Amino acid sequence: MKILAIESSCDETAAAVVEDGRTILSNIIATQVEEHKLYGGVVPEIASRRHCESIVGVVDEALGQAALTLADIDAVAVTYAPGLIGALLVGVNFAKGLAYAANKPLIPVHHIKGHIAANYIAHPELKPPYICLAASGGHSQIMRVETYTEYSTIGKTLDDAAGEAFDKAARAMGFPYPGGIYIDKASKTGDKHKYKLPRPHTANPYDFSFSGLKTNVINLVHNAKQKGEELDIDSLAASFQYTVADILTAKFVAAADEYGYKTAALAGGVAANSGLRALLEERCAQHGITLYVPPISLCGDNAAMIGAQAFYEFTEARRTADLSLNAVASMPL
Ligand code: KG4
Ligand code: ZN
Repeated sequence: MKILAIESSCDETAAAVVEDGRTILSNIIATQVEEHKLYGGVVPEIASRRHCESIVGVVDEALGQAALTLADIDAVAVTYAPGLIGALLVGVNFAKGLAYAANKPLIPVHHIKGHIAANYIAHPELKPPYICLAASGGHSQIMRVETYTEYSTIGKTLDDAAGEAFDKAARAMGFPYPGGIYIDKASKTGDKHKYKLPRPHTANPYDFSFSGLKTNVINLVHNAKQKGEELDIDSLAASFQYTVADILTAKFVAAADEYGYKTAALAGGVAANSGLRALLEERCAQHGITLYVPPISLCGDNAAMIGAQAFYEFTEARRTADLSLNAVASMPL
């Protein structure tokens, strides 16, 4: 089954053709990041406008690269939640028009389910049940993936998502948007034990809270500036990255042990973080847990992951939408 998938939830306009949930036939991403960088973060109105401008070309290119026409496609899939509402609406309305015109089924996909499904493309042997850590710009969650379409949450962030904390701490350190990758790079030459940062307690041991940690970094930078002191930014980046990775990893591995999982997966934009990947790999190995991580190219937002999840939504849950499908800005899994 060949699915044409569309993703426009934030600042990438993306389209892909995926076969049977596991094989990429094409994967096109038009990123707007350079424009949003000027403002230090995503400007929703600009994001929507750029999606409108790019979507026809991106979808065309996805079909062209797969050497297919719309007639060869079995279904159209689209991210409909969660995300920036104006940005989501562009993809949703385009997908609705396309599905209607070509008389193909329309499959709505939750963005975070898509991030998790990126692992199916990279790891043909991965099948539910397993435990998953999803960490992106808007989410940090530990989930039981019970089937391809059913999930339950073990823990989630009480305030900032991991990626959001990375980006805000990075901004305070003087890095451009989106800062996660700059912290990752700077960490390589820093001392991760130089700055002691707080590890918040949460009532549910598997919940996260990153807002205090982020504020601590911001205060450290401001205080140093006021006193005219030089901070060792590479070491601050390394200390921050290590603290976030350590918190995520400790809770995730403890949850895997408590719930008896020996198979685990990592998902979301923050899954690209080298410190988090290394620490998780090390601790999962110590606990006899097989860990799956997506390749870096499928960690960030893309439409291939949406096409992968759409295959299971359609074949396992028989999930399709009609033309009343709407975009939804926030929606738990
Ligand atoms: O999944 P994603 O592309 O978009 C959302 O669904 O939010 O995640 C974006 C987030 C951003 O906060 C970005 O800074 C972070 O993922 N990110 C990273 C790295 N690459 C991307 N964070 C830490 N280290 C990285 N290497
Ligand atoms: Zn995402």
